[in-house]
Amino acid sequence: MQSPFPDLQLFITGPIYVRPEVRQAGLWPEFGHRDAENRKRFEPIIKNLKTVAGAPDDYEVIIFNGSGTTAMEASIRSLVADGEKVLNVSVGAFGDLYHKLAVVNNKDAVQLKFDPGECIDPARLQVALDKEKPAVVTLTHNETSTGVTNDIQEACRIIKAAGALPLVDGISIFGGAPSHIQETGCGMYITSTQKSLGLPAGFGIAFVSPEAVSRAEKVTNRGFISDILSQLPRAKKFQTLTTPNCTLANQMYMQMDYIVNQEGVQNRFARHVQMRDRVHEFIAGLQGYEFFAPEGYRSPTVTCVRVPEELTPAGLKEIKETLREKGYLFDPGYGKLNDALAQAGKRAVFRIGHLGDMNMDMLNKYLQTLKDMLKA
Ligand SMILES: Cc1ncc(COP(=O)(O)O)c(C=O)c1O
Repeated sequence: MQSPFPDLQLFITGPIYVRPEVRQAGLWPEFGHRDAENRKRFEPIIKNLKTVAGAPDDYEVIIFNGSGTTAMEASIRSLVADGEKVLNVSVGAFGDLYHKLAVVNNKDAVQLKFDPGECIDPARLQVALDKEKPAVVTLTHNETSTGVTNDIQEACRIIKAAGALPLVDGISIFGGAPSHIQETGCGMYITSTQKSLGLPAGFGIAFVSPEAVSRAEKVTNRGFISDILSQLPRAKKFQTLTTPNCTLANQMYMQMDYIVNQEGVQNRFARHVQMRDRVHEFIAGLQGYEFFAPEGYRSPTVTCVRVPEELTPAGLKEIKETLREKGYLFDPGYGKLNDALAQAGKRAVFRIGHLGDMNMDMLNKYLQTLKDMLKA
């Protein structure tokens, strides 16, 4: 049967465009996840993930079946003990998600919340740490809803100086920019396959420090899938705790090899910066459009744009449908953010995802088409 679905080029923030070669690798053979064939895939995958991360050798890599949220929930359940507090630092919807995961798992959780479009302010972080004295602090490296990249090196330095363990959600930036795991010494750095790694969704990925592993030992009620200590013995054998998606594993084997040995990690990071700069140039050339994130904190993977007053969220959705007919999937802004902005009488936003294996040629063609829409 031929695909009954349109093959849209995705300019959203994930899932993303998947290269034809990676799609093809989806046809490679299934394998037994407790057989020697498993290691042939996952040992190189993990080695290449560590290269992309620049993670110290003593960090363990866990591949969770699920998605990024699976790994985020595992970090909360494994690392926040009864009688301890977790501070969830949020600059948007995905920082709020970390807080929600702490609350629904019955943790003593408090939130330090910044307005949408803001980045973490070190002074306010310090005040919250002094007041709350948390054992664990969660933060978002790249806030996908607003296009803000936080200075996690500075934030983690402050958090560690206060004696707390930082946990970083790097889901929408890993593979497109440095993760700074070495410099931050964070307890866990979390990502997933369907963003800058240029793969379909299906695995959450966590880099886990030795400190986090020993901390987990004193935490009760860690669950099973969400327990890094039940995951680790399998991870050390390059296995997943439960049956993996073999199609994705094959694709990931080929894509991680491509990233490390063909494109090159530094070239990949540089390409993301070039794509961001191209998008910035495009936005700067449009009258009445502004960047939502502050200068110096604008993401290399997603740009969030405030539109002129006359362009409403409904108008953005119309643009989405027109672009669909032209073969593109446009991102009319994070829904809850546009609802909140509308309620506050503020202008709406849209986003451009420029991550993964998108190239400049694809981006330029898209921006040209988008320009005509925005002008109309
Ligand atoms: C920053 C960030 N955190 C968490 C998530 C949730 O990840 P997943 O959908 O892989 O569970 C996303 C998804 O877009 C994200 O962008």
